[in-house]
Amino acid sequence: MTTTPIKQSVTVNINGTQYTKEIPTYRTLVDFIRYDIGLTGTKEACSVGVCGACTIEMDGKITASCITLAVKADGATITTIEGVADGENLHPIQEAFINHGGFQCGACTPGQIMAAKALLEHNPHPNESEIKEWMMGNLCRCTGYYQIIESIQAAAEAK
Ligand code: FES
Ligand code: FES
Repeated sequence: MTTTPIKQSVTVNINGTQYTKEIPTYRTLVDFIRYDIGLTGTKEACSVGVCGACTIEMDGKITASCITLAVKADGATITTIEGVADGENLHPIQEAFINHGGFQCGACTPGQIMAAKALLEHNPHPNESEIKEWMMGNLCRCTGYYQIIESIQAAAEAK
């Protein structure tokens, strides 16, 4: 016996563009963003909400998109890594990650940048322990933590 997935229409504003899609109710937000919308900057790694790779901003809050159902985002405003730069001008955090070697393989980097952006909006001049505490939900398998902290400190100074 085959079963037909229950579908629902979802309307989301992502990076300033409104999208409406009919999707299965079990679709995760990260799959919706990557495969239904085609914005592949957001990465999925652990799939269980512990590594931070899939971090996006939803209605002003950083959110693990791998453990959020896309239907929960109906009516929401989302920013992904593709929406962080201002046209051709990178965000100061993106500049700082490049200038301070804040990434190696890059798999965790979009999530790190989304989390760091939220930190500096919440606390423009965090000290090292505040950075560590805020960023503890974003794991880096390449273990580039020192450079990530340095990048965030440099971005805070630049701002
Ligand atoms: S992929 Fe979502 S928290 Fe790890
Ligand atoms: S840069 Fe490779 S996982 Fe963080």
